[in-house]
Amino acid sequence: MRWGIVGHGRIASTFLDAARGVGHEVAAIVGREASRAAVFAANHGIGWAGDELTELVSEVDAIYVATPHSSHRDVAVVLLGAGVPVLCEKPMAVNASQVRQMVEAARSSETFLMEAMWTRHLPVFAAFRRWVDEGRLGEIRMVEASFGFSAPYQPTDRLWAPDLAGGSLLDVGIYPLTLAELAFGTQPSSFDAEAELSPDGVDARLRLVANYSTGGSARLASAINTDLVPNGRIIGTEGIVEIPEFWRAERMTLTSLSGEKVDEVNTPHQINGFEYQIVETARCLEVGAVESPVVTWAWSTTMAETMDEIRSRIGVIYPCDREFL
Ligand SMILES: NC(=O)c1ccc[n+]([C@@H]2O[C@H](COP(=O)([O-])OP(=O)(O)OC[C@H]3O[C@@H](n4cnc5c(N)ncnc54)[C@H](OP(=O)(O)O)[C@@H]3O)[C@@H](O)[C@H]2O)c1
Repeated sequence: MRWGIVGHGRIASTFLDAARGVGHEVAAIVGREASRAAVFAANHGIGWAGDELTELVSEVDAIYVATPHSSHRDVAVVLLGAGVPVLCEKPMAVNASQVRQMVEAARSSETFLMEAMWTRHLPVFAAFRRWVDEGRLGEIRMVEASFGFSAPYQPTDRLWAPDLAGGSLLDVGIYPLTLAELAFGTQPSSFDAEAELSPDGVDARLRLVANYSTGGSARLASAINTDLVPNGRIIGTEGIVEIPEFWRAERMTLTSLSGEKVDEVNTPHQINGFEYQIVETARCLEVGAVESPVVTWAWSTTMAETMDEIRSRIGVIYPCDREFL
């Protein structure tokens, strides 16, 4: 399989290592400026570099979109319109309206589209769902998860800039929300949210208490200005699951309510964890599926709706939200 990549920033080489690690080729890279893309291509042994999406499409079988959130929709719609399968970095887009436009582009062109929510593909979570289905946790009552790091305030960096849809929720808060969704099988039915906003009005830190229709609740947090404990914990009436660094999980432990270890799962990544979503994309293309059951279009749309609602509560509005107001 021959991949193209759009965007040559921090995450592109993680994808590249995983794609090559599973025997795929990374054949082309596009950036906003051809000379910068060419430097990345030369440093990583990629044969083709440029600044034109329309030239990229003839070079490859599928494209990984790794640009800032604010450009996911525009880039993906062009690619899908040209009939090229797209694996798009999380969050799928800035808001639910943009996600719906992408889904519509995929549907009308009958072209594969998946949000690169790699956590959902990790083998640990297949094992976690088995434990839940077997009743080993009992009824899930509570999820606790946070993902936060301390990044220097740089107003023009994509982490902080409102016009690049900066802030903690879209960058890392989506992971605790994903863990809670994996545990409860649904998005929250109600929540309270509190945030510390940056000088430019993006959420530097966010705290969420969410309630689920199953009767459970979740305490979730994210930050780009604070190091938070990077673990997930799911508490049931029969047992507790601890997942260190849950967004890139390689292991988890089940303990009884009295703290005795009952079981554990250990599934080291073959490469860096991105390989599972890459293999799933290849599988879908092989069988002619335009949507993966692991991260469905409905999943991406409802996640975006939840994040829209959270942002509206904490008062984080991006310039590109105004397109739909
Ligand atoms: N799955 C994960 O674990 C993970 C981890 C980190 C990031 N991400 C996601 O990956 C995406 C990129 O993050 P990053 O940290 O790699 O960002 P980054 O370091 O800021 O890099 C973004 C890249 O995109 C290019 N770019 C910007 N706008 C573009 C456009 N309209 N068309 C083409 N290229 C464009 C930039 O190049 P120029 O500015 O030089 O043109 C730069 O090379 C984000 O959505 C982020 O949430 C995922």
